[in-house]
Amino acid sequence: MRRKLAAGNWKMNGTGASLAEIETLMKSHPAPGVDVLICPPATLIGRAAALAEGHVLAIGGQDCHAEASGAHTGDISAAMLKDAGATHVILGHSERRADHDESDGDVRAKCRAALAEGLVAVVCVGETLDEREAANTLDIIGGQLAGSLPDIASAHDLVIAYEPIWAIGTGKVPTTAQIGEVHDFIRTKLEQRYGAGVGRSVRILYGGSVKGSNAAEIFAVSNVDGALVGGASLTAGDFSPIVSALEEA
Ligand code: 13P
Repeated sequence: MRRKLAAGNWKMNGTGASLAEIETLMKSHPAPGVDVLICPPATLIGRAAALAEGHVLAIGGQDCHAEASGAHTGDISAAMLKDAGATHVILGHSERRADHDESDGDVRAKCRAALAEGLVAVVCVGETLDEREAANTLDIIGGQLAGSLPDIASAHDLVIAYEPIWAIGTGKVPTTAQIGEVHDFIRTKLEQRYGAGVGRSVRILYGGSVKGSNAAEIFAVSNVDGALVGGASLTAGDFSPIVSALEEA
């Protein structure tokens, strides 16, 4: 059985005042029936982790450097995230692949660094609209998985997030058949790569314009083990119904 995961990616949003949203979320779900993760900007990780201490809500980073320390101005290592209280880290988000030219190899190196520190790596893959329209989606996803994932992973330290780039922040959501096709494909690739035991246990999240209004439908799709949510994770009011929908799925 895979434990479901509702993950929020705050991206470059949030200041100290936003911590109240985490507090409200924890009050609304004192003992959630699913895993809940919030990935605030790095500036808030320490305070968010302190706030969530004693609650099952987990706090994660949105990126880490592949190296443990050194002359990399502005970067943050996996060890630093862990030290700040993070237990998870999002890696290879399409916005980082685009804004910071991150290659599959870069993502793989970061992933290895994260796992070495005992963080759970949430590795993102997804196709552009052009790639989907050219019927290349599965090839693209297969290539990203092959290049971005480490050779050794366990059921607990790896999560995949399928985020079609054209669905991120656009209000456009793939059909449930399209989501199911990609999630089933990712499951097969994970089983081939890590063997049936681990391959069947790694969670696969869907991300891209998930909202309270469409969450239940998405969570009913096979091999969808939760969601990675951007905009609708910024307030407890928007994120709580998604957590509830996952609990009921
Ligand atoms: P939205 O939920 O805002 O579409 O963002 C999805 C995403 O990129 C999460 O990582």
